[in-house]
Parts: sequence; C-alpha cells; structure tokens
Amino acid sequence: MITPLLSAFARGLTTEIAFDVLALAKRLKAAGKDVIELQIGDSPYPTSSSALAAGKAALDAGHTRYAPSMGLPDFRAGLAKLVRDEFGIAAGPENVVVAPGAKPFEQFFCELFLEPGDAVLVFEPAFPTYLPNVLRRGARMVTAPLTPENEFRPDLAAVERFVRDEPRAKAVFLNSPHNPTGGVATKADLEGLAAILRGTGVALFSDEPYCHMVWRGRHHSPLAEPGMMERTVAAYTFSKSYSMSGWRCGFAVTAAPLAELIGKMVNSTLSCAPPFVQLAGLAAIEKDAAERDRTMAAFRAKVALLVAELRRVPDVSVAEPAGTFYVFPDVRPLCRRLGITSHGLAMYLLEGADEKRGVACLGGECFGPAGQGFLRFSTAEPDDRLREAVAFLADAVTRTERVAAFLASNPQYRAGGR
Ligand SMILES: Cc1ncc(COP(=O)(O)O)c(C=O)c1O
Repeated sequence: MITPLLSAFARGLTTEIAFDVLALAKRLKAAGKDVIELQIGDSPYPTSSSALAAGKAALDAGHTRYAPSMGLPDFRAGLAKLVRDEFGIAAGPENVVVAPGAKPFEQFFCELFLEPGDAVLVFEPAFPTYLPNVLRRGARMVTAPLTPENEFRPDLAAVERFVRDEPRAKAVFLNSPHNPTGGVATKADLEGLAAILRGTGVALFSDEPYCHMVWRGRHHSPLAEPGMMERTVAAYTFSKSYSMSGWRCGFAVTAAPLAELIGKMVNSTLSCAPPFVQLAGLAAIEKDAAERDRTMAAFRAKVALLVAELRRVPDVSVAEPAGTFYVFPDVRPLCRRLGITSHGLAMYLLEGADEKRGVACLGGECFGPAGQGFLRFSTAEPDDRLREAVAFLADAVTRTERVAAFLASNPQYRAGGR
C-alpha cells in the first residue's frame, strides 16, 4: 500500500545487520536461552568513571537544553588538543565539529562532496552503513578487497587505479583500525594514500572509531599527512574508547570551512549533540585517559585469548588482528564441509545448534560479499564466556545432522543458494 509512495532510496534502504542479530539475541535471551553475545561491537565495560559522574552532574546542573550546533567551545578545544597530542594532527577548535557518534559523519561527508553518479571507493569487507549513505546522494560504491594476505591493509594500487581510471572518482572511504577485520593501515600506507590523493579532486573519509585500539605499532591518521586536511574528514567516537556507545558522542576533524559546513548540516538535521553528553565527553578526555588505556589493554588481552582459542578449532584459521576488539576467523573450509554460508553458520550457532544455549556473532557477508567465509566475533563478554563460545562452536559444527536440519528449515543459508 505504502510502497508506491516511497523514494527508491527508502525502498532499497539497508541497515547494520548487527542490530538485527542483537534484537534476535535479546529476544532469545528473554525467552530463557543462554546467549553468549559476540555480535555487536560494543564494550562490556561501564562508561569511564569521570564521564559518568560529569554526565550525571551536568543533568542535575540543568545542561538539558540546546547547545551550539558545532559543539560546546570547551569540548571542541579539548578534542583538538586530543588529536594534536595523540595523533599529531595540526588541529584547533575551528577544525572540530561534534555530533551524536561517529556514524552521522558518514552522511555529512557524502553530503559535502558527492553528486549523483559520483564514484566512491570503499574497501570491502566494509562497515554496512557506508553504502546507504553513498546511495542517499545517488552516488555509487566501487569496492576493492581487503585480504588476509595483505594483513587487511588498504591496497594502494586499487586507489591509484580508481583515481586514474574512474571518470567520476570523487571519494575514498578508509577505516583504520578496521571493522570487521582488525587490519591497521601503516604510516607508510597513509603516506602513499596521501601522495595519490593530493592534487586530485578526490576527498577522503577517514573512519577512526578504534583509534585507541591498535595492538601493533600505533594509530596514524591520514589527517596528519601534509595537505590532507583540506580533503579529509576524520570521524571519531567515544563509543569504543570510553564505553559510551549509548550516550551518542562523536566528533569530526577537518579543514575549518568544511567543519563549518558540517555544523550547518548538524543544525539542519540534529540541531546539536546533547550538552550533558558533551560535558561527559569533556570529562572523559580530561580525566579518564589512564582508565581508558587500562580498558584498551583488557580488550587486547581478550582479543589474544579469542584468537588462541579459535586457532584450536579444526578448519578455522585466524590472523592476529593488528587493532580493534574484533576477531575475524576464516571459516571457509568449515562452510564448505557443512554446505552453509558463513552468515548461515552464525545464525546456526545462535538459533539452530542448541535449544538452551547459543552464540551470537556475524557472518562476514554482513560487511559485503568480500566478507564471505569469515565470522566476526566481538569480545564483549567475560573471558570464560569467550572460551565457552569457542568450545560451543567447535562442538556445534561436528553435529552435522543438526546442521542439515537447520538448513532444511532455512534454505537461504545453503552455500551456493540451493
Ligand atoms: C567502522 C565504524 N564506523 C562507525 C561506527 C559508529 O560509531 P558510533 O556508534 O560512535 O556512531 C562504528 C561502530 O561500530 C564502526 O565500527
């Protein structure tokens, strides 16, 4: 009834499947199932303590009304200092704009630079909301694979080809540290990327929510490369570093005129980020760095634990992630043996393998076809639950009759679409 009224964009809108699996996991839990939840990229830790206290105090102090669309001046100044001190980015408050999380900047970046028909290079597997934001502008996504052979780092030859051969090349999306693979671009990668993009008409969206989760080397931002500020929007968030995903607190760093335009976009859509949230964020960056670093070290240990456990499972191989709190095992041999897609395998673990227990994770194809044959686990549960999740996986895939029964009632998960 409603469909004919809808725009083509609305009819084709895709979303982050992690939220669907989250909803299903919660439903199963509410019905009494013991679900080990490794499906969504969230922190199991409480919001860092000064942020929590400052947010509560700000509510009580009446910081509950509109704030400037660009963000509170003190917060913008503090954020500029953070990226200056930690990532060597020559930013002042004029380069910073605040929004509810990192995600809104995907849309604002596309609105800044893209016209219908423009081409955007995205490395795949890719964060699922890049596509709808590219499509919102009538632009199109061109993909280049990230491979384990290249440590899931961006392939600069693909960027070169895109800039040289694609007549409507307009933007590149980079996400480092990378969700879901854990790949991290090196300083040399970013120097190479900057050398390719400088002097072209191609802009860069640098998605950096995991900037404090680099386990090999350190975090580098392309914004620190000479001449990149004018063509780059880098997005950051408090969701991961300070366990503040539900507060919705993020910011972008870019050239001052671009930041101002993004401020207008915030104004014309969201009005502002809530001031009490910004005051919580300000307390986090002023007082919670040590707590943050302890939490990051805990994630690093969890990632190492999960990798070690998964490496003991037959037909599963896993590269040590260079960053993020995800582990992205290659389960292609397992999927081939069972005749199931990797997302089918994920759904089997959640719904099909056992009545009383389940493990929630994502198939790599939730991040585009290049993710097929991989699973993404987050590390959002206590260590003993991580061990139990892997033991559950190892056992569940031996019960081939149960897999067959699951596939019989869910034929969409058969490998090859049979
Ligand atoms: C690559 C990537 N970009 C953006 C986001 C969104 O971050 P936020 O929840 O702070 O908006 C996430 C969150 O998982 C992410 O993994």
